[in-house]
Amino acid sequence: MKIPLFDLTRQYKSMREEMLKKIDETISSGVVILGQNVEEIEEKVANYVGTNYAVAVGNGSDALLLALQSMGIKQGDHVLTTPYTFFATASAITRLGAVPIFVDVNEDFNINVDLVKKQIESDNLIKAVIPVHLFGKSVNMDDLKAVCDKYDVKILEDAAQSIGSEAIVDGRKFKTGSIGDAGILSFFPTKNLGAYGDAGMVLTDSEEIAQKVKSLRVHGARQKYVHEEIGYNSRMDEIQAAILNVKIPHLDEWIDARIKIAKKYSNLLGNFVKCPEVPGDRTYVFHQYVIRTESRDDLREYLTNEGIGTAIYYPIPLHLQKCFSFLGYKKGDFPVAEKLSRESLAIPIFPEIKPDEQDYVVNKIKSYMEVRS
Ligand SMILES: Cc1ncc(COP(=O)(O)O)c(C=O)c1O
Repeated sequence: MKIPLFDLTRQYKSMREEMLKKIDETISSGVVILGQNVEEIEEKVANYVGTNYAVAVGNGSDALLLALQSMGIKQGDHVLTTPYTFFATASAITRLGAVPIFVDVNEDFNINVDLVKKQIESDNLIKAVIPVHLFGKSVNMDDLKAVCDKYDVKILEDAAQSIGSEAIVDGRKFKTGSIGDAGILSFFPTKNLGAYGDAGMVLTDSEEIAQKVKSLRVHGARQKYVHEEIGYNSRMDEIQAAILNVKIPHLDEWIDARIKIAKKYSNLLGNFVKCPEVPGDRTYVFHQYVIRTESRDDLREYLTNEGIGTAIYYPIPLHLQKCFSFLGYKKGDFPVAEKLSRESLAIPIFPEIKPDEQDYVVNKIKSYMEVRS
């Protein structure tokens, strides 16, 4: 058996005709940049996550940059985030000339809010925090928001991996991406809602932030060819927007499927490897299903030889990346992140994985771990 970590083609097969029709309509209309499809997906996503505005941009990395800039973050400001995330979370900070400040994560992969509080109390240059709802698991936003509100620090949620997950704040449920001053989404093809190319979005309730992102995505021009500021070229194209409009009605059913697959993994693998824990007060939409074991590298090699796709998210925590060496961090600074980067292994999860394929993955992991022990 060959089981990929993720398979884009199965989902496409189930919606090919509708997709091709929509793409054809889009190209035939002659409007391929910032047209009706983009407006439609902006409205649908804003309704889905519950924000006043959703502004479509070129990709999730730019969404982070444009959002931070629109929130008023500028050169020299300190922005706090996790060292255990995709590179773009921190590079967006440096792209603006601001300084990433890392704090360690909890064993559940998400930022440690107690450490956030300590860091904010000791550094008054911190102007914003970027929590990352990693692998689709919501950060404890109730505690984080209380800390940030107290010290007047802004929040930009990196919800690139977590569309649809929820967190409770002040006793009410909110979708991730809608809780901070702004949030971002990525529609990279492998995401729970993925385009067939690059695409991203900024979410916010603030008209000011939304208008600023809209300007920055078109070279800082609120009116064509009248440039009030220097912006970027970062627009979601109409074809990607059309694709997302076809897909978004299925998002909740795909998330439910992921949660079911994750439950089955946890039930069957819980005695053999460390499985992700689902918190009672927050949801986990399982963008990735990441197990942990000290024999991660050997297990990975074994699974590869058995035809099972896996991935390591992330092999080098950001504070140890060469390009961030100027920040002055060293090995040992963030022991939990460093341990997770040695032990984590993502195993196949996508809504269309078949029960016998999942059984195969489970049986191979079990038999490896049994022999090992
Ligand atoms: C946590 C996180 N942040 C940001 C991004 C950047 O998104 P994109 O790949 O669309 O630029 C990603 C996507 O890969 C991500 O996983």
